[in-house]
Amino acid sequence: MKLKKWLSNGTVKGFVLGFIFATILSTAIVVAANTTTLENVSYDVNLVVNGVELELAEDMRPFISGGRTYLPLRGIAEALGLVVDWDNETKTATVDEPVDEEDAEEAEDAEEARAVLVAYFSWAENAVFPEPDEDNDIDTMTGASQIVPGNTGRLAAWIAEGTGGELFSIVTEEAYPNNWGDIFVVGPGELAEEARPALKALCEDIEDYDVIFIGFPVWADNPPMAIYTFIEEHDLSGKTVVIFSAFGMGDMDNSFEVLSAAFPDDVTVIAVPFGVSSTGIADAKDDLDAWLKEIGF
Ligand SMILES: Cc1cc2nc3c(=O)[nH]c(=O)nc-3n(C[C@H](O)[C@H](O)[C@H](O)COP(=O)(O)O)c2cc1C
Repeated sequence: MKLKKWLSNGTVKGFVLGFIFATILSTAIVVAANTTTLENVSYDVNLVVNGVELELAEDMRPFISGGRTYLPLRGIAEALGLVVDWDNETKTATVDEPVDEEDAEEAEDAEEARAVLVAYFSWAENAVFPEPDEDNDIDTMTGASQIVPGNTGRLAAWIAEGTGGELFSIVTEEAYPNNWGDIFVVGPGELAEEARPALKALCEDIEDYDVIFIGFPVWADNPPMAIYTFIEEHDLSGKTVVIFSAFGMGDMDNSFEVLSAAFPDDVTVIAVPFGVSSTGIADAKDDLDAWLKEIGF
């Protein structure tokens, strides 16, 4: 609960205006020496909070003047178990629920503990491509996948930047073909065989991460099979997984569905994946940042 009260000037600091009409007696009070003088002040006011009469210090007593009852904000708020703060610069009195130190520390620890790994598979880092030259001109659109980091790699780098995460490139022991004709045979072939291509390296410190982003290019409407090797060869128990993907003319709906079902029960898969087509990669950063924010990063 946050309650902000603007007081017209510093003269009535510590008091909030109440609108109780009462008898006016003939005393006068100077609220602040150089500004306001309240006349006909009566201290004939009792303050009862939650059935208990408040005993307030001399300078915090409630009073009535000019048909208005002035009540001490601090006295009342603190009697209700609230915390009052006064910002003299902005002349703002703030009343808040007290912060539970233990809860605050726990929330801070939880925030700190969200170490992020951004694991991704990209064709560009899983094949050996000839350097583009005059004889071997790479088309900028279809060729983006053949130049490190590739489409998925670019998304991965932006995610690492946005989350403070570490990048991990999933690389298979055996390199993939470096041309479209052969990759379109090998990729779908591995899917049909339910292959588990061996990985060159595992993420040695996987236990240090709480959130694992997993990214891949859609191959034959599915994740490349090396993604399953990664999942099966790392202990992801208790972790949160976020899925992202680059695709071509299709989408990532099936890939997200089949991959989500592949994790052990004690893995939480964030229900909102991020996917973008090859033609949209260059302009995808703003959408990606908005998505990160939406899912809490
Ligand atoms: C073997 C293979 C199969 C593919 N199958 C699909 C597909 O089913 N649907 C689709 O939209 N894109 C498909 N694509 C296109 C890629 O998903 C797309 O070009 C993606 O942006 C490549 O990302 P990358 O640069 O990280 O490799 C396929 C690409 C390859 C190499």
